Amino acid sequence: MNQPKRYLITSALPYANGLKHVGHLAGAYIPADIYVRYLRARKRDVVFVCGSDEHGTAIPIQAMKEGTTPRAIIDKYHQAIKQDFEDLAISFDIYHRTSEPIHHETAQEFFTYLNDRGELETKETEQYYDEEAKTFLADRYIKGTCPVCGSNRAFGDQCENCGSTLSPDELINPVSTLSGKKPVKKKTTHWYLPLGKHEEFLREWILKQHKDDWRATVVGQCKSWIEGGLQSRAVTRDLDWGIEVPASPNPSKGGALQPSVEGKVLYVWFDAPIGYISATKQWAIDNKQDWKPYWYDADTKLVHFVGKDNIVFHCIIFPVMLKLHGNILPANVPANEFLNLEGDKMSTSRNWKLDMRDYINDFVKKENGGGQCVDMLRYYLTQIAPETKDSEFTWKGFQDAVNSELVSIFGNFVNRTFVLMHKLCNGRVPKLHEDILDETDKTLMAEIENAKLKVENLLEQYKFREALYEVIDLSRKGNQYMQKKEPWILAKQLESSKSSPPGGRLEGARIDNCLHLCLQLTANLAVLVNPFLPNTAKKMLYMMKVVDKILDWENAGKLKLLSVGYSLREPQLLFRKIEDAEIAGQVEKLKAGLVKTDTSSPLPVTGQPATGNWKPQIVYDDFAKLDLKTGTILAAEKVAKADKLLKLEVDLGFEKRTIVSGIAIHFKPEDIVGKQVVVVANLAPRKMKGIESNGMILMAEDKDGRLIFVNPDEAMANGAPVS
Ligand code: 2FM
Ligand code: ZN
Repeated sequence: MNQPKRYLITSALPYANGLKHVGHLAGAYIPADIYVRYLRARKRDVVFVCGSDEHGTAIPIQAMKEGTTPRAIIDKYHQAIKQDFEDLAISFDIYHRTSEPIHHETAQEFFTYLNDRGELETKETEQYYDEEAKTFLADRYIKGTCPVCGSNRAFGDQCENCGSTLSPDELINPVSTLSGKKPVKKKTTHWYLPLGKHEEFLREWILKQHKDDWRATVVGQCKSWIEGGLQSRAVTRDLDWGIEVPASPNPSKGGALQPSVEGKVLYVWFDAPIGYISATKQWAIDNKQDWKPYWYDADTKLVHFVGKDNIVFHCIIFPVMLKLHGNILPANVPANEFLNLEGDKMSTSRNWKLDMRDYINDFVKKENGGGQCVDMLRYYLTQIAPETKDSEFTWKGFQDAVNSELVSIFGNFVNRTFVLMHKLCNGRVPKLHEDILDETDKTLMAEIENAKLKVENLLEQYKFREALYEVIDLSRKGNQYMQKKEPWILAKQLESSKSSPPGGRLEGARIDNCLHLCLQLTANLAVLVNPFLPNTAKKMLYMMKVVDKILDWENAGKLKLLSVGYSLREPQLLFRKIEDAEIAGQVEKLKAGLVKTDTSSPLPVTGQPATGNWKPQIVYDDFAKLDLKTGTILAAEKVAKADKLLKLEVDLGFEKRTIVSGIAIHFKPEDIVGKQVVVVANLAPRKMKGIESNGMILMAEDKDGRLIFVNPDEAMANGAPVS
């Protein structure tokens, strides 16, 4: 695409069923906000939309938990999440809601459009039904044992323990969460989006056209979906919470009667992304604009910012819907991987997380907090952004990033510049004496001029952490420059040479040049840092006594942003230090809040966390049934579409086995090749993600959830019996 005429930027709509944590913030909101602020600074026509996803099946479940109605839940969390984003300077143009009538109408129109053109199929299937509650059960309403990790807290759509995507039919011993009873199978008819029909389009569009400009992780995930066979996806559900399926005949089938829409709603994943469109419509109404060009004109650039668990919906399902509906397709979906916390996966159910709200209360709203603490978090989350692989938030890492980079490099440079300018140049921008510019000055000037292009190129490629690094690096260069120029020494020389001719003229001019360039660099840093750390940029503007206009991106790289003779304010510290006690307190709070999940399970499988529960006594014969053997891991690789699984090739001496093990978040494949292990060799084969697993590796788990291999004290021949 040539220069786009307008941009429509979306961040994944969070479910309004609870507070959101910093993993969400790092994944889909901060990167989008940086990109949008950059586009705004470039004076581009950009609309940034987001809002609450209010039809998730977790919402009525949360309502039951809190003893209230789904409506009360969405009202409460919509407001709370919206406020948290505002407090962290996420600058949406609109934060909408999928419960609004305009969204219901938009989603129903979309469904009708596709259905009337014969783009949807209907199919009768058998689904779980709760006879006591007299209702079909959404996937979330069915619990059972996970076939992958054995946790007995798995839901019909996903196991929260091992992260595997499941279907209700895969659950072992399913029960209804409504009545606690075993559900029965009952026939029902639903509408489906036949993705298989669009395979060619998806291959061409993603795997050919976007193979180089989309992130490798995104293309990789799409490839494995496409190659795994694109199944038709149900777009309706039997539920009483959601958008009613609109009744309509199907003219393309001669107006044939459609199945009854009674009791059916649109599947939340059908309506949620349409929420981007209805949010744009509402924004247009509020701002007296036309929404249509943003969704129909080819010169609009649509970019979806999401976490990796949303890739398939934004790269495969929604684009097929958009194509069929005549809309534009996303130009990019820069999805982030996951952010772990202090060595473990962030989890709401285990309360192993840092909520945005907690950070706001503990830092932003504190006496010494405010905008600088907002920017500190934005800084750290961008510096560790999981752009290419999972990354980790640690409190120590946060403290180091703030103290050693923001305070010691960026803040220090700006502060020194202002202090010296007040001390040596009467608080005014000194003159630049071009005749005495030396190589060091010229190198710094070139660095300032080049930084704009470097940062811009990285932002255009959604490489936010590298772009931020360039900004900090420019301030580092400022410090080095000042260290080399030593204006404080020049000042002393100037003082002592005043009595003798030529009266320190040269020293004076050198001081001027040093501080002139450092001040122009400071103004440039404000422009460049603004998309990342908007509060910091504002504070710098205040200190420089200049208007917002200076933050226009076109000003980056310019060496005359501050006029000679202009008087500037006294410096203010841009960032405060994070004290050891603060981070120790946070780590303690995190550990104290951890909820240990009860994963005791009838299936003792690899990767199952410690339960702390004792199992019932067994007799020797029970134990003797186990065939335990030593083995060595020959090869290990990740299993596609399963974050937790590794596929292992294990040498058991008498044969080689494929074993699928739920240990991928604990070990890198390359680190465990060659390890000796103990294998339950006579465990019945089981299919996981289409791979037959023949056996199980024994693991021990400590109280913090760390897994270690159980293995013989000394190396043994493979296949040795263990008893
Ligand atoms: O995963 C989630 O949190 C979903 N609520 C994201 C929806 S994004 C979009 F499709 F609206
Ligand atoms: Zn599991």
